[in-house]
Amino acid sequence: MAAAKIPAVKGMRDVLPTDTYLKKDDPWIRTGHLHLIEQAARDIFPLYGYREARTPILERTALFTRGIGEVTDIVAKEMYTFEDRDGTSVSMRPEGTASLVRAYVEHAVSQQEPDSKWWYMGPMFRHERQQRGRYRQFTQIGLEALGSQGPRIDAEQIELLNRWLKALAIPFAMHVNSLGDANCRPQYRALLQDYLRAHAAELCEECNRRIETNPIRVLDCKNPKCQQVAAGAPPMKYCEPCQQHFDKLRNSLDRLQVQYLIDPKLVRGLDYYTRTTYEAIATEGLGAQSTVAGGGRYDGLARELGGGDTPGIGFAAGVERLALLVAQAGREAAVKPVLFIAPLGENEELKADELAQALRSAGLSAEVSFRKSSAGNQMKRADTLGARFALVLGEQELQSDRARLKELKTGAQHEVVLSELVAGLRKLLLSLPENQ
Ligand code: HAM
Repeated sequence: MAAAKIPAVKGMRDVLPTDTYLKKDDPWIRTGHLHLIEQAARDIFPLYGYREARTPILERTALFTRGIGEVTDIVAKEMYTFEDRDGTSVSMRPEGTASLVRAYVEHAVSQQEPDSKWWYMGPMFRHERQQRGRYRQFTQIGLEALGSQGPRIDAEQIELLNRWLKALAIPFAMHVNSLGDANCRPQYRALLQDYLRAHAAELCEECNRRIETNPIRVLDCKNPKCQQVAAGAPPMKYCEPCQQHFDKLRNSLDRLQVQYLIDPKLVRGLDYYTRTTYEAIATEGLGAQSTVAGGGRYDGLARELGGGDTPGIGFAAGVERLALLVAQAGREAAVKPVLFIAPLGENEELKADELAQALRSAGLSAEVSFRKSSAGNQMKRADTLGARFALVLGEQELQSDRARLKELKTGAQHEVVLSELVAGLRKLLLSLPENQ
């Protein structure tokens, strides 16, 4: 009897080569869409001075309860928390910001460099209801700028996100808001609570709880009835410094020619935010889980975590969501070989292996057939693989040192010298229109 299969844990996905690689007509492109997303980050973030940091996946639970907030969904319902062998409560990180700020405080970085710009990439864990674009293990690419008050750096960061998403050809809209600060938010909270209490009967059960714990979150509840109540909620009233910060941010964004929408309902799901918040929301292709990146300012977080008064701002993007969009933009498919070599007999097989080795050493992708079948069937296989050229290697080719490369799209035949295959193929690629 076969042993029972052991499936992956729900909400935790395998990334297979079929997910990793782009399907593109261009055989020169050997980049997967995950690589494309990561590479664009690696290329773009340093242009703004961000350097990569890596923090552990496991942290003390207190970091997140204190940093993100005990009443947030993430901390109250979604963390993977357990006791370590010594009894310490630890959690798998549900996000990266608290960890990065902990590292910043722990290593007294502010004493070495007053302004730090860090970026990071890695898996995050939240026990959420699984759906398309929402997983229990997912990957974030994010960045944090610590030490600057803004608002110019806020605008710089939003412009960076804008640049990165545009480089990936993601269709999105940038939403921007301000949540005020410790000065003006408590007053607004009280005002909002009064309003929500008066409408409690129209709100869902969850929002009824939120009135007392986290009333601002009612503003982005997805329940249509709650949305109706939210639409009539009093607008945020900022204190003078927060108003100025917001006005200057908008001015900077305009100067940098970043397109954005002011979205008063953009309240975010983590408690550490002050003033600027922003989200890039996909305008097509993602359905319910359409926020590809979100972030904002958190001027009180370093102090909350035992550090000094270090202001900070950052964002994180969901790599799986970006990948879905990049793939949908018609950029799926496997790496296609430049040349498919089909040997007809045993002597030719070893020669084919050698030729493929030489091509790969020269940076050209090559596939050899390991199956014995007719020349016609081999051509069909070359076609399925999406090879640019195919070469059938028989006794005659071996003896004469000459062979024909068949261009699969056009059917054109090009003669090459086998002992100079690399040079011949290179020359051919340069002379053909698609590679100019
Ligand atoms: P967040 O909005 O919770 O913010 O997550 C950022 C992004 O991670 C989301 O916009 C989404 O693309 C992705 N994401 C979140 N949860 C899931 C999930 N279950 N499955 C797939 N993707 C998901 C933060 O995490 C903050 N740390 C961002 C930040 C950085 N704020 C300041 N600095």
